[in-house]
Amino acid sequence: MKAWAMTAALVLGAAWAGSAAAERSPQSIVRERCQLCHGSTGQSSYPDYPKLAGQNADYLTRQLANFKTGVRTSAVMREQVADLTGDEMRALALYFSEQKLIPDVAFDPALAELGRDLYFNGNPDTGVTACVACHGPRGRGAMYLPRIAGQHAKYIEKQIHAFLDHSRGSPDMVMHKVVENISEPEIEAVAQFLSGME
Ligand code: HEC
Ligand code: HEC
Repeated sequence: MKAWAMTAALVLGAAWAGSAAAERSPQSIVRERCQLCHGSTGQSSYPDYPKLAGQNADYLTRQLANFKTGVRTSAVMREQVADLTGDEMRALALYFSEQKLIPDVAFDPALAELGRDLYFNGNPDTGVTACVACHGPRGRGAMYLPRIAGQHAKYIEKQIHAFLDHSRGSPDMVMHKVVENISEPEIEAVAQFLSGME
């Protein structure tokens, strides 16, 4: 073997040994685990599994920690995060936040129109706060406020129900208060609107 090839082999060998000892890369964890349900770029194609692409990194990091501590209950996700370190969770959050999210196509435009009204104006009669106040005019949130634009309608509905019956906890309990008086048709409408929001 020529000297340069020997050096290259040594360097590569060292790098490989180094990475085996160090923490797993987010890409390798995604490939081995998350991809199955959330897709390799977080653009999940199943309505039960949330899209993670383009989601805010601080929000994702906090949710992974919430699953680990049980603040947010999900048997499936608790198992997924059980052995992840804080650094690995942060790296996974960053990875998914950098991917591009593709919105769904709202299948019921009339319902989506009702949802748009609730999103921007809330319901003053029953005290449902306008979603825009926190999630922003483009539904992108910021930091610990999640992006909800382009998310699967079915997942959004499930989360609103989980806030309603308090099976989903969060440190600030903000959403629980917001949805206290929301009606079933409003949940369906706003989820429909959000799923198609760019
Ligand atoms: C077997 C399927 C499955 C696998 C594998 C899986 N997840 Fe999940 N994930 C789910 C389900 C289901 C939910 C919704 C839980 C709920 O209803 O609250 C979820 C929710 C999440 C959320 C919350 C998103 C939000 O918008 O609040 C994050 C973050 C997440 N998963 C990250 C991951 C990561 C990172 C991995 C890989 C380490 C992973 N998941 C692997 C099924 C899975
Ligand atoms: C006062 C601020 C505020 C308002 C108003 C608000 N939200 Fe939220 N929302 C939050 C916060 C904070 C979270 C994250 C909670 C957590 O950490 O688990 C959240 C989370 C959510 C989630 C879960 C997203 C996910 O990926 O799991 C959905 C869905 C949601 N909000 C929908 C709505 C809708 C629909 C409205 C209007 C009817 C609304 N929100 C109004 C603050 C708000």
